[in-house]
Order: sequence, then C-alpha cells, then structure tokens
Amino acid sequence: MSTTELTVSLGERSYAIHVGRGLIDRAGALMAPVMRQKRAFVVSDDNVAPLYLDRLGKSFDAAGIRHAHAVLPAGEATKDFAHLEGLLDAMLEARCERDTMIVALGGGVIGDITGFAASVLLRGVDFVQIPTTLLSQVDSSVGGKTGINTRHGKNLVGSFHQPRMVLADTETLSTLPRRELQAGYAEVLKYGLIDDPAFFAWLEENGARLLAGDEDVQRQAVVTSCAAKARIVALDEKENGLRALLNLGHTFGHALEAEAGYGAGLLHGEAVSIGMVMAFELSARMGLAPREDVERLVRHLRALDMPVTPPRLPGVDWDARVLLGHMASDKKVKEGKVTFVLARGIGQAYLDRDVDPEQVLGVLADSLTTG
Ligand code: NAD
Ligand code: GLY
Repeated sequence: MSTTELTVSLGERSYAIHVGRGLIDRAGALMAPVMRQKRAFVVSDDNVAPLYLDRLGKSFDAAGIRHAHAVLPAGEATKDFAHLEGLLDAMLEARCERDTMIVALGGGVIGDITGFAASVLLRGVDFVQIPTTLLSQVDSSVGGKTGINTRHGKNLVGSFHQPRMVLADTETLSTLPRRELQAGYAEVLKYGLIDDPAFFAWLEENGARLLAGDEDVQRQAVVTSCAAKARIVALDEKENGLRALLNLGHTFGHALEAEAGYGAGLLHGEAVSIGMVMAFELSARMGLAPREDVERLVRHLRALDMPVTPPRLPGVDWDARVLLGHMASDKKVKEGKVTFVLARGIGQAYLDRDVDPEQVLGVLADSLTTG
C-alpha cells in the first residue's frame, strides 16, 4: 500500500505529513533528516505504549537515535497541569536538551499535552507527532494547536507550536476500539461539511467500509482530511478567520463535553458529531441551510451508529440554559459574542457572530427532548 506525503506550507516552519502503513517501523529513518541531535524523548499513554512503543524504539535503534520515554495514563483527564508538570520533570530528569526531539506517540490527548510541553521546555524544542487514533491523524496532529484543559474549560491553556513532522501510520487504526474510530469519523465528516460536498458524498458511500477497518478507505480519508487541514492552516495559522471553520460543531460539542465532565461518557468526537447536527439544525432554523441537508447529515450519522443527540449519562442532568452558559466561555468569544460556524448547506460553512441566543437555546432544548 502506498504512502502519501503532504506538506503544511508555513515558510521555513513547513513540515511533511506522511500517511501510510507501517510508518512507525520507518520513523527513525524518516525523522533523522529533521533532527538536530540523534536523541529523542517519546511520550505515550498506557494503552498505546504496549502496542507500539517497542516498535518505535527499534526503528530509532536502527537509525542510531538514542531514546528515552514517559508513559502517561490514557484519557482526557491527563491533559491537566499536574500531568504537564510531571511530564516536564521527566523530560528534564532525562536531560533533554534544546536539540532533543520530543515525540508524541498516541491520540489527541498525548499530542496536545506533549506538544505543549515541547513548546515550553527550555523555551521551546522541536517535536514530531505520531498520531495513533483516527481523530488525531485527521485533525489534532496537524496545525500546531497544543494545550491542556483547566477547570474553566477545555484547551484553555496552550500554545501554537508546529510539529517538525507528522507520521500517520494507518496500520495503528487496526487496534483502535470501534467507538474511538467512530468518534474520529466525526472530524473526517467535518471536512466534507465545511467545503467539500464531493468528499461528503464519497463518505456516504465509503463511511461504513472505513469503520469496518478497510485500510485503503481509511488511508484515503486521512489523506483528504489532512490535505484540507494543511490548506486551511497554511492560510490562517493562528486562527484569525478561516481556520475557525474547523470548529464546526465544536461550540456545541465543547459545551456538551464540559457538562459531561470530559470522561468516557461522551468522547470529544461524539460531542462533535452531535454538535455538527445542532449547527446544521440552527442553520436550517435561521433559513440558511436547506432542511434536506440536515436530514441527509442525520441519516448518514444514524446509518453509522453515530450519536446525533446528547446521550443519557449517569449523573448528567442536561439543561439547555447551562449548555448555553458553557458556550460563553468558548475561546472564540469576542466582546461577549459567541462565534458560530453555520452552514448554507453541506459543503458551505461560514462564520456567524450574530446569532440569536434564544434560537440556540431552542436547538439545544429540542435536541435534549428528542434524544
Ligand atoms: P485519546 O488521545 O484519548 O485517544 C483515545 C483512546 O484511544 C485512548 O484511550 C488511547 O489510549 C487509545 N488509543 C490511541 N491510539 C490507539 C491505538 N492505535 N490502538 C488502541 N488504542 C488506542 O483521544 P483522541 O480522540 O485521539 O483525541 C482527543 C483529544 O484531541 C481531545 O483532548 C481534544 O481536545 C484534542 N483535539 C485537539 C485538536 C488540536 O488541533 N490540537 C483537534 C481536535 C481534538
Ligand atoms: N481542530 C481545530 C483546529 O486545529 O483549528
């Protein structure tokens, strides 16, 4: 199976995204040309490390790269100050230097905290992303957003710090639990909904095969998604406008996640799946998107067993007004106004800063009662 190489064009900070099978075994050779020192410090989690850390280490050995590692607990709760502090301590104890390459081996949680640690360690060191979930391969590993959560909300402390390379080894998706694959699929579908109706139609045809583990379909989906993200990031690295479109479904989704408590009850991608339906529903109610497009989106998600309304969760008493309150602490709030990603139809997303909160409340309330 072929490997595809894409580029995120950011002048002298440009970097390659490699997508293909077995890249972990070739990581040492692929990374060596961008390393300033033949030393790496790998960060992974306790689900991924037993599966892939050894193979990565062997590829480093073969390339003459010395390596040390830290393994963090799996899960969103790891993206906090306490684990960041522990990770930075481990890096300093291992005597990482300014030229040591930090490597994130895992999903978006590991990518986000490791990238943030790399951005502040010794005032900033290089890092490489080796994403192992569908979500991280199509979204979080590309574009340089790093960070942790605080009690005030998700990803509220972080930095823009671009990786030196991204190695998306699609073989790793074979060990990913189906629920995680589905969660990542929401971020894949997002690119079709933003500006690529042909990709949305392709996913309607191929989504089931992707989730059933067809590696060729997975590779094509990762390549198309990364190409879309690379294009947007190159045009608007620091999210002054265009890049905010990548938050389709996220304003609603982040509110749901905040209320659900960032646990295993509601995964990030599941919240995005529900959030995208809410964004389309709001767009239809505002007379922007055709009702058929909302129905088409919901039909596709339901066919793949993806969530379209907030699930019942133990200890979570969904309340539309509380969810609306969470949206007010979104990073995209400007002068008290929430920026929404709305759509004029499938493949026609745009930013809207003038949304009536009562209409948002209506969408939330109806979604909670139909769920
Ligand atoms: P995750 O990192 O928690 O991984 C999901 C689960 O899958 C974990 O239990 C992990 O241990 C396990 N896992 C990972 N790879 C595996 C594999 N190959 N086989 C078996 N198990 C595996 O979650 P995620 O969905 O990858 O990432 C979600 C995070 O990404 C959130 O914190 C979100 O905020 C962040 N995110 C960041 C950006 C960004 O631009 N930086 C974009 C989107 C999401
Ligand atoms: N995941 C949204 C972004 O990278 O901008």
